[in-house]
Amino acid sequence: MMFQELCCENKNYRNLINGKWQETSSGKLIEIKSPVDDSLVGRIQSMSTEEVDFAIENAKEAQKSWKKVPVSERAKVLYRAADLLEEEVEEIAKIMMREVAKDKKSAESEVRRTADYIRFTADAAKGMEGESIPADNFPGFNKSKISVVTREPLGVVLAISPFNYPVNLSASKIAPAIVAGNSVVLKPATQGAISALYLARVFQEAGLPGGVLNTITGRGSEIGDYCVTHENIDFINFTGSTEIGRRISSITTMKPLLMELGGKDAAIVLEDADLDLTVKNIISGAYSYSGQRCTAVKRILVIDKIADKLAEKLKEAVTKLKVGNPLKDQVEVVPLIDTKAADFVEGLIKDAKDKGATLLYGGNREGNIIYPTLFDNVNLDMRLAWEEPFGPVLPIIRVKDKDEAIEIANKSEYGLQSSVFTKDINAAFYIADKLEVGTVQVNNKTERGPDHFPFLGVKSSGIGTQGIRYSIEAMSRPKATVINIEQI
Ligand code: NAP
Ligand code: G3P
Repeated sequence: MMFQELCCENKNYRNLINGKWQETSSGKLIEIKSPVDDSLVGRIQSMSTEEVDFAIENAKEAQKSWKKVPVSERAKVLYRAADLLEEEVEEIAKIMMREVAKDKKSAESEVRRTADYIRFTADAAKGMEGESIPADNFPGFNKSKISVVTREPLGVVLAISPFNYPVNLSASKIAPAIVAGNSVVLKPATQGAISALYLARVFQEAGLPGGVLNTITGRGSEIGDYCVTHENIDFINFTGSTEIGRRISSITTMKPLLMELGGKDAAIVLEDADLDLTVKNIISGAYSYSGQRCTAVKRILVIDKIADKLAEKLKEAVTKLKVGNPLKDQVEVVPLIDTKAADFVEGLIKDAKDKGATLLYGGNREGNIIYPTLFDNVNLDMRLAWEEPFGPVLPIIRVKDKDEAIEIANKSEYGLQSSVFTKDINAAFYIADKLEVGTVQVNNKTERGPDHFPFLGVKSSGIGTQGIRYSIEAMSRPKATVINIEQI
């Protein structure tokens, strides 16, 4: 019932603008077909630049009143949204499964995790306080001056999300932005937009005033540049590829950016690692959702002495992965998001084969399903050593010692996360200290959660820091009011 408004007959989905579900005046639509079976999931509106202007204007206007709403009241909307989302886990997960080919367990856990994220954001915002700074800490000043520092919203936040977590990576921008007093214009990935529109409906039903959250749909290649350079956008929170992230940062001026981009996360395996734990983590880290996660394990750097043993155990585990149709079975390896993505991954596999890597398992393709693929003896001349597949392909690169592992890990243009598998805490810290990444996981796969931890990428993997409190801080700024007391 709740979702009736966002879709009219014939599966044509509308956009939320100024609290109403609206269609474009041109009637131009984009068909969203399922990567699983090519069936029609629905059609989304392809908005014109004039319609984008209208949505952003509404967001700007609505923010003027929203910023005056007390934080505790803004938090109440978030609590209601979290509860509603939990009630709709199954329905939203069903859409997501068809739209982005996610398996049932992962889709449902994405929606539940999002409800927890929203709730925790409300808690965190209520716990955030300003500070007062006395002047006499600084040489030459006495107590007659004090700075009262509070936090202010930034204005209109443009939230751009990718296809792979269409609900979670939209909500993790919307919730911290609105609780900080901003309004939001959400531009979801085209493939994934329908799932994101369901989320917008949940926020509306939770009582978010009209205009505080607006959605924009249309191809990034057509309206993206226009949105990011729009004069009334005060902040851009983007998750997606490094290619598009670079483009956005090169065409925007004086706009603060928060970007989470691509990665090439390494799992560094030392001689003393618990191999069963290592294999379990690497397999789920590399192959779940077909490796379509920015934090997926995307290369293994293993000390030569234990490489044979590790390779053997990984091969055994990879053969057990379930591959196929996520609408029928609980599978880990699903069809990739589109043919272009599958072609790209196939190209990486071919390059590794041609250049002499040892294919331990997989390497084959059926439509857009790339079978889980494991290569050993990958060398640094192969594309697979450096490029992000965003697919279920994992290279093993053998190294002589931990310093060589660090050197190769840091040669990557990316710097999202790395794992180190060892029982030696000193070695773990030695490596962690030298890795140029946002997060080092010791004896665990690379992953974002829990969502209140700081999450960031360095080098080509991002700008700024996400994570619940960090995201609220990123989308607000300090405001200092200096009190000058005459007689003290
Ligand atoms: P993408 O192609 O970069 O698209 C991301 C978003 O940007 C989509 O909403 C897309 O819209 C939009 N877009 C496209 N062109 C644009 C432009 N010129 N201006 C503004 N926006 C534009 O990424 P994706 O394929 O959805 O996701 C996969 C990539 O995201 C991978 O590289 C992955 O590593 C990265 N990722 C990173 C993280 C992280 O937290 N570090 C998380 C998830 C994914 P359209 O869909 O309409 O083109
Ligand atoms: O690719 C999405 C990114 O945010 C990773 O999240 O939970 O799969 O590590 P997670």
